[in-house]
Amino acid sequence: MATDQRLRDFFPPPPGLVESAHINNRDVLARMADQNLEGFWEEQAKEFEWFRPWTRVLDDSNPPFYQWFVGATTNIVYNCLDRHVRSWRRNKLAIIWEGENGDQRTFSYHALNREVCMFANVLRSMGVHKGDRVTIYMGRIPELPVAMLACAKIGAVHSVVYGGFSVEALHGRIEDSQSQVVITCDGGYMNGKIVELKNIVDEALKRCATVEHVIVVRRTGQPVTMESGRDYWYHELMTLPVARTASGNSRCETEEMDAEDPLFLLYTSGTTGRPKAILHTHGGYMVGVATTLKWVFDLKEEDRYWCTADPGWITGHSYIVYGPLLLGTTSFMYEGAPTYPYPNRWWSMVEKYGINILYTAPTAIRGLMRYGEAWPNRHDLSSLRLLGTVGEPINPEAWRWYYEAIGKGRCPIMDTWWQTETGMFMITPLPETPLKPGSATKPFPGIEADVVDENGNSLPAGEEGYLVLKRPWPAMLRNIYNDPDRYVSQYWSKFPGVYFTGDSARKDEDGYYWIIGRVDDVIKVSGYRLGTAEIESALVSHPAVAEAAAIGLPHDIKGNAIHAYVILRAGFEPSESLIEELRAHVAHEMGPIARPEKITIVSQLPKTRSGKIMRRVLKARAQGLPEGDLSTLEE
Ligand code: PRX
Repeated sequence: MATDQRLRDFFPPPPGLVESAHINNRDVLARMADQNLEGFWEEQAKEFEWFRPWTRVLDDSNPPFYQWFVGATTNIVYNCLDRHVRSWRRNKLAIIWEGENGDQRTFSYHALNREVCMFANVLRSMGVHKGDRVTIYMGRIPELPVAMLACAKIGAVHSVVYGGFSVEALHGRIEDSQSQVVITCDGGYMNGKIVELKNIVDEALKRCATVEHVIVVRRTGQPVTMESGRDYWYHELMTLPVARTASGNSRCETEEMDAEDPLFLLYTSGTTGRPKAILHTHGGYMVGVATTLKWVFDLKEEDRYWCTADPGWITGHSYIVYGPLLLGTTSFMYEGAPTYPYPNRWWSMVEKYGINILYTAPTAIRGLMRYGEAWPNRHDLSSLRLLGTVGEPINPEAWRWYYEAIGKGRCPIMDTWWQTETGMFMITPLPETPLKPGSATKPFPGIEADVVDENGNSLPAGEEGYLVLKRPWPAMLRNIYNDPDRYVSQYWSKFPGVYFTGDSARKDEDGYYWIIGRVDDVIKVSGYRLGTAEIESALVSHPAVAEAAAIGLPHDIKGNAIHAYVILRAGFEPSESLIEELRAHVAHEMGPIARPEKITIVSQLPKTRSGKIMRRVLKARAQGLPEGDLSTLEE
């Protein structure tokens, strides 16, 4: 009943917005792309500078190893920086940054380019070459995008690990990528506290041998241990002759890259133990990310845009760093927590910096909504013209609050559905799209999505099924680093020839998509993607734990919260203090976001005869729901 009503609510775009938007003919574009996919993307690719043009737009001769802009060479950084500093944009602000403690810094395109060039020279002098991997583990400060861009500029492959992750997660990711260099900070500010980034790096490095150098940005000034011959201060390196060319200037040649050369690895959680490194490339990623950002958020030259995500996740890669810089945008970046020191922090910065476009996550909206409208009402939010969300389905209540209390009923909400793997928005409104709260609306032009049953058959409107993507797109992942078999089995095998998203969804009569959630063993906690297997292995690494199972259960603010069930080893007795110790252990190993909400000590776990834990059964039991088909249960 509630759902039926929800489906009827249309929010039309505000008057004036559509007329001035970059795109106001979505259906025409979608039809064009359907008829000529390559021609459609080729048109968008012409917006960028290429050193050598492509001979083919799409090579689909060896699916699912698709290639885009075959034969072309470019460098995404050339398009983010080099071409802008040759234009009037050299004096335009690229990044406006505010620290949690109120520090402020700004970078024009010229200043950002200079910093990137010098740091790229430093990396080269340390022996970082094209194709080498560099792990970046930092707080949300401008040196984080600088480090990413400096790597990409010289053709090195960056692997950013979210600064909220901890020792074990960091260690696994450094080791898997075989990075020789790690870039970090002494510490970071978050919620009035200091995150001990360098200490965590030190601990992680005790467990891996590949790393030769650690570069440390001084942010907090806290004491840290610097290992002689291994650890260097960023600010010291940047004053050395190595940061400059032989003739003493701060320039650095941008490496010419094949369109299909790797740009970055980004680890994400999947169904099985080891996190997988999603591989993205220079050419197609550039075209997909910039086109989607320009059209969906209607970015204009004069806009100030703020994506609140962390650069350590795909949202930050695509829509804080690369997308906005490709478009020559002025972006705002904030270091800390939304409610520090008071719940009006975000709204005060929207007012102070005159933000026009705000892109955030449902969990943040729910968290801020809790404090009531009085906080945003203290500020002039009239500069806002478009809002966005990402990361999980947004519940209609949070949607309406965002729309009314923040957007004052004037700003459409772009609910963008996409993934680390897709690199760019896939199902999303455009400013012209009539909205329904909770629906990501329709596929972006050129994207063919569908909802299918277990056998891959298309389902009619209203029926829940698996969300799939049926045609390749330029910013798609190209592989799982060093694991092509897993790439094929994970994404392209459930329905041969079709990309399986891992999500369930339903279409309605208007062709709008409603994303329901993950159907695999991935838990979305506050929009962060965590694998049950990673949480379980953190638990089992504690001496008291013999076996563990983790599930996600609904949570008002976080969307989902982690509940874990553990079987103790012989000799350990259940107690409240042991449970607390286990929760703290997971937080220490993986990071605070992975700390289980609740841990229950049990004597048995429901398993299939082949020994696989049936998390579905645990979940149903915890929620008092029917347990479904139990024919494969062991006992
Ligand atoms: O379940 C979907 C959910 O987030 C998953 C992808 O997570 P990740 O790779 O971490 O990327 C998040 C940022 C792009 C998806 O499989 N998801 C993402 N956006 C939405 C969403 N669920 C519903 N609505 C969205 N707008």
